[in-house]
Amino acid sequence: MFYPFIRKALFQLDPERAHEFTFQLLHRINGTPLQFLIRQSVPDKPVTCMGLTFKNPLGLAAGLDKDGECIDALGAMGFGSIEVGTVTPEPQPGNDKPRLFRILPAEGLINRMGFNNLGVDNLVENIKKSHFNGIIGVNIGKNKVTPVEQGKDDYLICMDKVYPYAGYIAVNISSPNTPGLRTLQYGEALDDLLMAIKNRQTELAKRHAKYVPIAVKIAPDLSEEELIQIADSLIRHNIDGVIATNTTLDRSLVNELNNCDQIGGLSGRPLQLKSTEMIHRLAIELNGRLPIIGVGGIDSLISAREKIAAGSSLIQIYSGFIFKGPALVKEILTHI
Ligand SMILES: Cc1cc2nc3c(=O)[nH]c(=O)nc-3n(C[C@H](O)[C@H](O)[C@H](O)COP(=O)(O)O)c2cc1C
Repeated sequence: MFYPFIRKALFQLDPERAHEFTFQLLHRINGTPLQFLIRQSVPDKPVTCMGLTFKNPLGLAAGLDKDGECIDALGAMGFGSIEVGTVTPEPQPGNDKPRLFRILPAEGLINRMGFNNLGVDNLVENIKKSHFNGIIGVNIGKNKVTPVEQGKDDYLICMDKVYPYAGYIAVNISSPNTPGLRTLQYGEALDDLLMAIKNRQTELAKRHAKYVPIAVKIAPDLSEEELIQIADSLIRHNIDGVIATNTTLDRSLVNELNNCDQIGGLSGRPLQLKSTEMIHRLAIELNGRLPIIGVGGIDSLISAREKIAAGSSLIQIYSGFIFKGPALVKEILTHI
């Protein structure tokens, strides 16, 4: 309701500053009588996916609340799930600023944040403090200083620490902003990683008497052959779900627009079609053997429905939420 006014002010600020300011505000408001400003009621639309019951199909995508600092305030806006992270074993500052850019006419963002986060231990403490009654997904990655060949160890460290507190765990191998990370999406490197993760999941499920599903998050910039290989690998290793997609390196739809040549991953409306096509191809390849969580450029009820029509069981938003605010959550959940 108030977002169009707030947005005007926020968009005068540098994008990362606007993010920090919003988080400070949410922190202050949450738990006070003023929280009516952020709380909105949305209809329950339960969906069962990866063996979990989500109160509705709309989640907040990873990267917005990397350290789990505002889970309750964001949850109050109606999301069925919140994916926190990407978190790494050790805290790290991420890339130099500026590293987040708006492409206003296209309602897109380019980011090269580089997994700035306060580390997995801090995230776990924040999850423990939260009261969100939806599902918390924890998105995990590797530290920049860890060589890609040893990246597996970082994922396993994070898994061990977040397992008791996560609704599901998302394995991020698709960020374009950590050098070499995307190579984990291919061939032997992928098989090796998935096998280790699956074995660890089996051990942890026994230890904690609780099965926490694993979803793998993939990039939209895959050839047909790469997509077929990834789908095959996910099925062979019994992965519980796939999150499609992360940001793209493709700039064809934002050519000539201000900021279009910034290095990083592009998200928002310019990603919408590409990600939907990917989900469609993936759905054909997977043939119902594992569910798809669809993300990329959802900015309206129609684009949310397109993601579901393409084969997504759940959907997530990030950039659309920045441009449209909490009203987008309500619009989608009221009619979907
Ligand atoms: C500023 C920013 C930071 C992001 N950080 C992460 C991250 O840490 N981990 C991750 O898996 N995805 C991250 N993403 C990708 C989003 O989760 C999402 O996959 C992508 O933005 C496409 O969705 P959208 O078009 O709705 O934004 C980030 C996106 C943005 C814009």
